[in-house]
Amino acid sequence: MKMSSSDKKQDEADGGSVKESKKKQKKQNTWRPQGPRDPFEMLDSLPEKKQQEIQRALHLFSLGSTLPKTLQQAKKHTYLFWDTQPVPKLGDSITTHGQIVVAEASVRKEPYSLPQGFSWDTLDLTSPTVLQELCTLLNNNYMEDDDNTIRFDFSVEYLQWVLQPPNWLAEWHCGVRVDTNKKLVGFIAAVPADVRIYETEKRMVQVKLLCVHKKLRLKRMTPVLIRELTRRVNQQDFYQAVYTAPLLLPTPLSSCRYWHRPLNLRKLMEVNYPGLRQDMTLQRALKFHRLPEVTKTSHLRPMTKEDVKGIHSLLQENLSKYKLSSILSLMEVEHLLLPRENAIDTYVVEGDDGTLTDVVSFYSISSKVLNHPVHTKLTAAYLLYIAPTATNLVDLMEDMLVLAKSNGVDIFIALDVMDNRSFLDKLKFSISDKCLHYYLYNWMCPNMSPEEVGLVLPN
Ligand SMILES: CC(C)(COP(=O)(O)OP(=O)(O)OC[C@H]1O[C@@H](n2cnc3c(N)ncnc32)[C@H](O)[C@@H]1OP(=O)(O)O)[C@@H](O)C(=O)NCCC(=O)NCCS
Repeated sequence: MKMSSSDKKQDEADGGSVKESKKKQKKQNTWRPQGPRDPFEMLDSLPEKKQQEIQRALHLFSLGSTLPKTLQQAKKHTYLFWDTQPVPKLGDSITTHGQIVVAEASVRKEPYSLPQGFSWDTLDLTSPTVLQELCTLLNNNYMEDDDNTIRFDFSVEYLQWVLQPPNWLAEWHCGVRVDTNKKLVGFIAAVPADVRIYETEKRMVQVKLLCVHKKLRLKRMTPVLIRELTRRVNQQDFYQAVYTAPLLLPTPLSSCRYWHRPLNLRKLMEVNYPGLRQDMTLQRALKFHRLPEVTKTSHLRPMTKEDVKGIHSLLQENLSKYKLSSILSLMEVEHLLLPRENAIDTYVVEGDDGTLTDVVSFYSISSKVLNHPVHTKLTAAYLLYIAPTATNLVDLMEDMLVLAKSNGVDIFIALDVMDNRSFLDKLKFSISDKCLHYYLYNWMCPNMSPEEVGLVLPN
C-alpha cells in the first residue's frame, strides 16, 4: 500500500513548518469533541435509549451518512479520501492486472498525527482486559441494523478467531484511545493472508473490524485509521489489501448479495428482523420453511484436528476454480476451520476408505436484541466454505441448516459467491436488499461476478 501524492502532502505537512502544522492540526481536529456546542457532546449526555430514538429518527428522515448506495450515485459523489488512494477510479473499465503504485524505498516512520486528546494504542489481545475492551467498543458501536435495534454481540472467542490467525501481528491491531480516560474509541485491524487473484498469488492483508465510536462519527476519523494501518502494513513489506464493505466505495472488484434463510421464523418475525418475506401468513411461512428433524448425509461428523490435511486438499482443489480465493496453509486451515465454541463450526464427510470427500463450515455471530419485551439475543450463522466432491451440494447444505437450527441458530446467511446460487433458491433462502462489495487496495484487475469469487471474509 504505497502512499499516493496527497498522502505525501499529508506526510510533508506532518513534518513541516509550525504554521503548516497548525493549519493541519485545525483540519484534523474536525473529529475532536470541541466544546459545549458540539452536538456529539450533547448526545454524549443523553441516556442510551434517547440516543437510539434519535438515531431511528435520523434514519427515518435519511439524515445519516450520505454515502452513495448505487453506482450512479457513486459516480456523482466526491470521495475526499478514497480519491487520494491507490484504488481504481469508479467507472474505469480495467483490462490489465497489476499494482497501482509501486512501493517506495522507505516507509514513513512516525505514526499519523491524531487530534489533541487522542492517542494510538497497539492493542495487546493476549490480555483478557484489552480483549474485553475491544469487545465493548464493537458491541456498543458496530451496528448491523439501520435502526439500531439489533446489534452485534461479538464473543471474545470470535474476536480471537478473526484477529489472531497464524502470523498475526499486534501492530496491526490498531486502536485509538482518549488520553484522559483511556477509553477505546476507534479500531481497525489487518491480518496476513495469501490470496489468488486470477493467475496472481499475492501476500497481502485482510482488513477487519473497522469501527469508530458512534459519538465520533462523521468526523473523518476513518481516513486517519486507514492511513495509519496502511503505514503499519507497509512497514512489514505488504502493499496490497483485500476488504469488504456494504458501502459503495471506489471501486468494487465484485458486488455480491446476502441471502437469508430463516431457521427460527417465529422469533425473527417477533423481533422484526429486516427483509423477511411478507407474502405469507405466519402459518404458511412456518410450513414453507420447515426443515427435516435430522440430517440425511451418512458419515457426516464435526471436524477434528486429524482432518486438517484432508480438508486442506479438498479446499485447495475447490478454491482453485475461482478468480479470487485464499491460499491456505495447513496451519491456517486448522485455525480457520477447527470448531470453536461461539465462533466456527466445520463438518466433514468421510468416505468408506477413510478419505474425506466433503467439507462445509460456517461461523456464528450473536446479536443483542434491544428494547424487546421477550427476546434479548439472536444468533446468525454465515456460510464460510462448502466443498463437496461426493455428496450432493443441496443435501449437504440442507444438513447444515438442520445442524445449525438444532444448535440454536436463528438465521442462516450466505452470499451469492462460489457455487452458492445452485442451492439458495432450492433451500428457501431469500435475497436480502444488503450488498457486500469486495475491494482490493493497490491492485487492479478486471472485475468479477459473484460466482467467480471464492473468498468469504468474516467481519
Ligand atoms: C464505518 C465507520 C468507521 C465510518 O465512520 P464515519 O464516522 O461514518 O466516517 P468518517 O467521517 O470517519 O470518514 C469518512 C470517510 O471514510 C470512508 N468510509 C466510511 N465507511 C467506510 C468503510 N466501511 N470502509 C472504508 N471507508 C469507509 C468514507 O467513504 C469517507 O471517505 P470519502 O470522503 O473518501 O468518502 C463507522 O460508521 C462505524 O464504525 N460503523 C460501524 C461499524 C462498521 O460498519 N464498520 C465497517 C464495516 S465494513
